[in-house]
Amino acid sequence: MALDAAALFVEREEERYALHTRHLNEQMVRVLKTIGFDVRFRTGRGQYLFDPEGNRYLDLLSGWGVFAIGRNHPALRETLKGVLDSDLPNLVQMDVSALAGALAERLLAHVPHLEKVFFANSGTESVEAALKFARAATGRPGIVYCDHAFHGLSYGALSINGDPTFRGGFEPLLPGCIEIPFNDLGALERALAARDVAAFVVEPIQGKGVNLPDDGYLKGAAELCRKNGTLLIADEVQTGIGRTGRFLAVEHWGVEPDMVVLAKSLSGGHVPIGAVLTRKRIFDRVFDRMDRAVVHGSTFAKNDLAMAAGLATLEVIENERLIEHAARLGTRLLNALGRLARRHELIKSVRGKGLLIGVEFGAPRSLKLKASWNALEAVNAGLFCQLITIPLFKQHRILIQVAGHGIHTIKLLPPLVITDSDCDWIERAFAAVVADAHRVPGAVWSLGRTLMGQALKARAAV
Ligand SMILES: Cc1ncc(COP(=O)(O)O)c(C=O)c1O
Repeated sequence: MALDAAALFVEREEERYALHTRHLNEQMVRVLKTIGFDVRFRTGRGQYLFDPEGNRYLDLLSGWGVFAIGRNHPALRETLKGVLDSDLPNLVQMDVSALAGALAERLLAHVPHLEKVFFANSGTESVEAALKFARAATGRPGIVYCDHAFHGLSYGALSINGDPTFRGGFEPLLPGCIEIPFNDLGALERALAARDVAAFVVEPIQGKGVNLPDDGYLKGAAELCRKNGTLLIADEVQTGIGRTGRFLAVEHWGVEPDMVVLAKSLSGGHVPIGAVLTRKRIFDRVFDRMDRAVVHGSTFAKNDLAMAAGLATLEVIENERLIEHAARLGTRLLNALGRLARRHELIKSVRGKGLLIGVEFGAPRSLKLKASWNALEAVNAGLFCQLITIPLFKQHRILIQVAGHGIHTIKLLPPLVITDSDCDWIERAFAAVVADAHRVPGAVWSLGRTLMGQALKARAAV
């Protein structure tokens, strides 16, 4: 008799906080309880999550961006079941897999200026590969990255992370990594001038904060890299595979990076995968002799389930025209939220591309609001955003979060399969919660006082 994981999920659901507190990350349990995100989700379908009472929630996190095609897509499910039911040889290792070949071919058809693919198991692992490839291909030590960058949390990727909160406590990191401001071509030029930099690694749109490049920035960066013999690596782990309304976000600015890193959405959300798409000359410098055929790799990379998940995901994205759909609904949401911003002083900016959208809040001008804002921010920078995310969740059943530490931007990262009626839902909910936030005193600011109390209590307990 096989283990019934779904039955086990239900059976032990009541104990899940106790289990995590005892055996896993207790702090995560505390966070969920503090902000009241402690709903027991029972099922997930497409863009929706359902609690045990059958209430439907709209998911604007999509598992940190992995569920581009939605949860449990029937086509993906059928493909994965097909693999499991077929007794495929899988991971023979001293053989090469047809599925990996087919997925590489399909990915490269979307990015025709690149010729080779390296598969890994996650975003961070793919970034590690890109860093190693860049050093091997150029013989140079340096890596340049941007402030606010996020490329993963393993040591190489952490060494090019632009947020001190992630780095703290883990130093020393990889030597030779230089941070520059995002959107600053002068700083990039100075960083590359000594011609000892292997790669400039950049997210075309930064996930932490949803920061967009100025129009000439990526093109200018590509030009500076070319001039200085530095490779340009576009980390499209979050922005890639249709998220921004193009297959790759760099297409918006007509840029052709030397390497492109993908992960998240390629998995269909269900089987981890990562990929580095590169120029052949880079790949050939890494795998340059027969005795170096396995000089970089990972045991589970190219496993059949991951390759099949990637193929099925690309098929769904093409069949359902999800890239065009993301572009259309993204424009709709940007316009609607932009109109909201013009009516409300607490919203400073609405920005994004396709279905990667940031709503940035900021200090208000009117006196009463300003006093409440300042009191909250004095306790915990960025806490204000929870006054928006909590009512969106509790009153409007929208799952959404802040786009990074200590910042005031809330990020919309929905599955690409959301509909116009989901957009109505989002627009109605934002309008109601943002209007409430402009009332002092009011429910939103009394929630603020509760959160301040909790933050101060937690600080006193340390
Ligand atoms: C741009 C970017 N790169 C890399 C990563 C790391 O990916 P993973 O969490 O799969 O290691 C992330 C994850 O959020 C990301 O957003």
